[in-house]
Amino acid sequence: MAANPLATLAIAVFLICLLLPTSSSSSSICVARTQDHVRTAFHFQPAKNWQNDPNGPVYYNGMYHLFYQYNPHGALWDVGNLSWGDSVSGDLVNWAALGNALDPTAPFDANGCASGSVTILPDGTPAILYSGIDADRRQVQNVAFPKNPRDPLLREWAKPAYNPVVPLPADVSANDFRDPTTAWVGRDGLWRFAISAVADGVGATLVYRSADFLRWERRAAPLHASQDAVMAECPDLFPVAARGAEGLDASARGAGVRHVLKVSMPDTLEDYYAVGTYDDAADTFTPDEDCGGGDYRRWRRIDRGHLYASKTFLDARRMRRVLWAWVNESDSEADDVARGWSGLQSFPRALWLDGGGKQLVQWPVEEIETLRTRRAAPLQEVEPGGGVREVTGIVSSQADVDVVFEIPSLRRAEGLDPGRLHDPDALCREKGGSLTGGVGPFGLLVMASGDMREHTAVFFRVFRILHEYAVLMCTDLSRSSTKAGVYKPTHGGFVDVDIEKDMSISLRTLIDHSIVESFGGGGRTCMTARVYPEHVAAGSSSHLYVFNNGSAAVKVSKLEAWELASASVNVDDDGGLMAGGSFANMCRAEEYNSS
Ligand SMILES: *[C@@H]1O[C@H](CO)[C@@H](O)[C@H](O)[C@H]1NC(C)=O
Ligand SMILES: *[C@@H]1O[C@H](CO)[C@@H](O)[C@H](O)[C@H]1NC(C)=O
Ligand SMILES: *[C@@H]1O[C@H](CO)[C@@H](O)[C@H](O)[C@H]1NC(C)=O
Repeated sequence: MAANPLATLAIAVFLICLLLPTSSSSSSICVARTQDHVRTAFHFQPAKNWQNDPNGPVYYNGMYHLFYQYNPHGALWDVGNLSWGDSVSGDLVNWAALGNALDPTAPFDANGCASGSVTILPDGTPAILYSGIDADRRQVQNVAFPKNPRDPLLREWAKPAYNPVVPLPADVSANDFRDPTTAWVGRDGLWRFAISAVADGVGATLVYRSADFLRWERRAAPLHASQDAVMAECPDLFPVAARGAEGLDASARGAGVRHVLKVSMPDTLEDYYAVGTYDDAADTFTPDEDCGGGDYRRWRRIDRGHLYASKTFLDARRMRRVLWAWVNESDSEADDVARGWSGLQSFPRALWLDGGGKQLVQWPVEEIETLRTRRAAPLQEVEPGGGVREVTGIVSSQADVDVVFEIPSLRRAEGLDPGRLHDPDALCREKGGSLTGGVGPFGLLVMASGDMREHTAVFFRVFRILHEYAVLMCTDLSRSSTKAGVYKPTHGGFVDVDIEKDMSISLRTLIDHSIVESFGGGGRTCMTARVYPEHVAAGSSSHLYVFNNGSAAVKVSKLEAWELASASVNVDDDGGLMAGGSFANMCRAEEYNSS
């Protein structure tokens, strides 16, 4: 809504500087940061401690807010102490930490403030809806409102004594009722929110309806139910435009509006979604693609790598829908404790419905470009059959890489049995990046040590299936770290592109020390992975390569690889000063001075 984004950023920075007391000196933070090779430079993290689900992301009064599940007492999950951490940003890139928005202090949340969302009410007041774990360890739904709605930072929240607004229903067990969505308004003018539950033994997404946001009544039928009786957490129901990338308000309806239902499954720890029809008279959702029995785990995946508990919000400033998600650690709890923190948020992604109407497309928000500094030298040919070319001129452990591979001929594509289409993870494990092939494997080797003993391969392979072609995308973590006890799976997913028509495929990869987020085919397939390279711990820098281990030629028709500056992300959660990019620049200057 603000006419000038730069002005908004300037105001945000100004407010942060003005309203937060300055404390510890920045140089000590810079030193601590350079010693911590796993810590990220532009992904959202609190300064310390445990974080998990993103909660209540919202654009309010010219500022972005991200609340998140936070344990203020340590680096491990501790449900009884879960609070809502709170950070604000003018640009989704640089973040200032505020005090907790919610702490488990009331009878209706004494054992934890679990996940929830923010809804902007018609008078402009933001309202939090969240799950409390009450004094009797029951999951109940509560509201909270800003103590001072005129505070642009929304620092303090009041939890009315009349909570919970939705107690535990009789047919729902105490542990299975949580994660209310942002509320929306139906045709009848009443509010609704959706929530996860196991109701009468069936894993379901329920809908509640209210005229006043306080008295809520459960709808007879669930929005959707899965016969598998598994609790599906963190539901998100949101409208998407049938055509185009513009984001819609939660209450949007009518011609040209489709809906997406997304859930997170605790048994597989993955996020799933379906595109479908939301009936706002019955409050039911019907997926377009019937994948049998309503089993959420057969729906499409938000990310083919590893992220969880994703949540979207409408960014009303740029009219786009933006997704956040928790990305956990993949080394040991002892490592978390030693580092003093655990968990990242994925880089915020704009998302919209693909032209075909069947799946979402996700793409890093364009504000990431404000961090771009040096650009890598150009590069064209990578010889087939084991060709490797280094991308030089940038620090590649903090980079944004955008590459297009042109495939002159599909003649050498290997044949694949159609029965293999259902398990791309297994296919990527079997046909890893270090093997040879026909058309592919080709792609990137990231966070590679000089001797190549450590590297993470993000790559494609093209297969011929009967008379058609399929593009497989993989992230092979098997050599990502020589450290013991690290979870190093191989992630796989097919990319929904017409390779015969395009004869090219794009790959965008964000590399940030211990996270590698990849977007294949313009964001049609996304893959997030965590890496813990030992060569960096030992003080060596990482290399970035383009490779082609297939026998068919592949041309690099575009390679834009940018080194990214460090964003200022919650640098000091004791209320320290953060001023947009200037703090990061200060850190870099000091690093140069001391080297
Ligand atoms: C919360 O953390 C404190 C400090 O670590 C601990 O003493 C307490 O037992 C925790 N509370 C719960 C409910 O787990
Ligand atoms: C992180 O996720 C992976 C994959 O689901 C899982 O194996 C691992 O236990 C999780 N780690 C932690 C610390 O929760
Ligand atoms: C290409 O394949 C060969 C043979 O399997 C292997 O030795 C080599 O490491 C592979 N190259 C890459 C970049 O993985």
